[in-house]
Amino acid sequence: MGGPYWRMPDMLRPNSLDCYWMPYTPNRAFKADPRMVVRAEGVFYYAPDGRAILDGSSGLWCCAAGHGRARIVEAVQRAAAELDYATSFNLGHPIAFEFANRLSGILPDGLDRIFFTNSGSESVDTALKIALAYHRARGKAGKFRLIGRERGYHGVNFGGVSVGGIMRNRKPYGPLLAGVDHLPHTLDIARNAFSRGLPEHGGVEFADALERLIGLHDAATIAAVIVEPIAGSAGVILPPKRYLERLREICSRNDILLIFDEVITGFGRTGQAFAAQTFDVKPDMITMAKAITNAAVPMGAVAVSREIYDTMLANAETGIELFHGYTTSGHPLACAAGIATLDTFRDEKLFERVRELAPYWEGAIHSLRDAPHVIDIRNLGLIGGVELEPLAGRPTVRALEAFRKCFDAGLLIRCTNDILAFSPPFIIEKSQIDQLVEIVRGVLKTID
Ligand SMILES: Cc1ncc(COP(=O)(O)O)c(C=O)c1O
Repeated sequence: MGGPYWRMPDMLRPNSLDCYWMPYTPNRAFKADPRMVVRAEGVFYYAPDGRAILDGSSGLWCCAAGHGRARIVEAVQRAAAELDYATSFNLGHPIAFEFANRLSGILPDGLDRIFFTNSGSESVDTALKIALAYHRARGKAGKFRLIGRERGYHGVNFGGVSVGGIMRNRKPYGPLLAGVDHLPHTLDIARNAFSRGLPEHGGVEFADALERLIGLHDAATIAAVIVEPIAGSAGVILPPKRYLERLREICSRNDILLIFDEVITGFGRTGQAFAAQTFDVKPDMITMAKAITNAAVPMGAVAVSREIYDTMLANAETGIELFHGYTTSGHPLACAAGIATLDTFRDEKLFERVRELAPYWEGAIHSLRDAPHVIDIRNLGLIGGVELEPLAGRPTVRALEAFRKCFDAGLLIRCTNDILAFSPPFIIEKSQIDQLVEIVRGVLKTID
């Protein structure tokens, strides 16, 4: 074996790869031919041999402001030296309040009560629990059903997997939560292939499937609908025009809470702070994580409407209105990273930059239309998805090969099923967008 990993200087190479059970990774294949990075700066990762790798996926949709941002690093260092930890159970530390206040300033009006978690998965399960507890507090405990969507990804905890709609994430884990149903996904390549921005067809029709679920279960049993405004992990699936508006109408008419899972779309990815603002549709809760701290420290949050928060407080039978929380909710280091991240977004005008770059990005990514194997291209903000025709009888193999070859050619992307997903840091330059597209074009020419 003579790949780049095996050429690493001994000092950098771990003496064994056996102990670390890597997440969402075919461990045997990976450990036989590892891909490693040891450093990151700006829009690049660096491999052990010093090779620069353009980060076409902001880590995992999370390092939106680019890597190694000194302001964030220093804020975390200061916080660690000052107050390493304090619980948020019945004890306060100022920076958690400060960060919640700052977050409320970029959220849609009225969605300004913030519950802190440590990840997207925890944010989702928190939001689902709040939905159930809210209805109970209003004397509507019969509203217990949760509605997700096919191909939805809401993390890996039991609630999120239950409302999620990706078979391989669900199948090994038994019956999951009771009382869950799913909307159809909104990918319709036959009608919407190569749409630029939001697809034209199917919005109202896909959303009206919620009316059918209400007909089946009765609105009096349904607590909440959760969707990603743009499904990221399932391969960049955009909401067709009028879809989210229609879901909002149906939920409001039927006293059903609407939750937007913005773990991927939050913090500027679509050109506004949240996709709720880009699409001008206001949910009752927004889940977030990832770019909340530029991923420098793990963190997540749920933004909750005042109506939900006030109702919960007004109806608390005992002192505590929500029996839920994490040891590290509102961790001082995460809050420090979060504030420094918001400062960076603001001072460098990075959400505006996404809006400015979006047309260039759209043109660049759609220039791959004539590349081999491409059957659809989807984009919005600084998000791109390129869907490949699966190899006959061997789905996922083609995209995985493209992923590997891109890495070898100096580009990190994501692949899921036969879709290549792109979400570069907001500081990417146009010339680097060109570089990204040319690497992908070159790789697509070399794979079967
Ligand atoms: C929409 C969405 N929700 C939830 C999650 C889970 O987040 P985490 O991996 O931080 O638990 C993800 C992760 O990609 C996501 O894309």
